[in-house]
Amino acid sequence: MPSLIEIRNLSKFYRRGEQRIPVLVDINLDVMEGDFLALMGPSGSGKSTLLNLIAGLDRPTAGVLRVGGVDIAALPESALADWRAAHVGFVFQFYNLIPVLTAFENVELPLTLTPLSRQERRQHVELVIELVGLGDRKTHYPRQLSGGQQQRVAIARALVTDPMLIVADEPTGDLDRASAAEILELMERMNEDLGKTIVMVTHDQRAADKAHYVQHLDKGELSERVEVLARTP
Ligand SMILES: Nc1ncnc2c1ncn2[C@@H]1O[C@H](COP(=O)(O)OP(=O)(O)OP(=O)(O)O)[C@@H](O)[C@H]1O
Ligand SMILES: [Mg+2]
Repeated sequence: MPSLIEIRNLSKFYRRGEQRIPVLVDINLDVMEGDFLALMGPSGSGKSTLLNLIAGLDRPTAGVLRVGGVDIAALPESALADWRAAHVGFVFQFYNLIPVLTAFENVELPLTLTPLSRQERRQHVELVIELVGLGDRKTHYPRQLSGGQQQRVAIARALVTDPMLIVADEPTGDLDRASAAEILELMERMNEDLGKTIVMVTHDQRAADKAHYVQHLDKGELSERVEVLARTP
């Protein structure tokens, strides 16, 4: 079976004046369909940079970056935006909800880019909002929700287009322990019940323990994978 994410000799440099600053150096990575990978490593090691490349938010300086068989680095900007909208769900540390939209409208937003009718959109939104346990919070605005509830809205928004890949950048980084545990349980259900492939950046060992395996980034270099043996129930 081919890898869902196939990365070969990938490098990313940022430019500072005349200087070229290496952030990722010669990265090789394979993520199979249905995998749940946790990326760990010190601050500044390039985790978010790598995640953003995988999600098509940024472009590599060199190397091969194929996701779902598509050479995403070669796509023109508008095609890349369409590809992201169709295939990737995003979960961020600070939720990134739109403050003037309700929970329902936030979840509906990615569907407004699709040809679905209003009625079909409603059905999809209802389904994922129930799935994350917020059926009774649909008309609440983000400021009327706790951090954990906002992150659940963000997860519903990530799922609503039924993407093949979920990328999460420190999804529990701003949550207390109990809310973090709820979010991690949802991440696990997305993977196990819905078959979503997940790449999650985290500093949180409890989060990493939900993954199938962990890879560490350090100074732009990626370690071998470490299997998570005793996955927490
Ligand atoms: N757009 C950019 N322009 C220049 N340098 C950048 C840019 N984005 C990231 N960097 C640099 O790349 C390095 C890696 O950043 P990145 O955000 O990937 O780290 P990280 O591992 O996610 O860290 P953290 O755990 O703190 O979130 C940092 O030194 C950062 O300053
Ligand atoms: Mg980061």
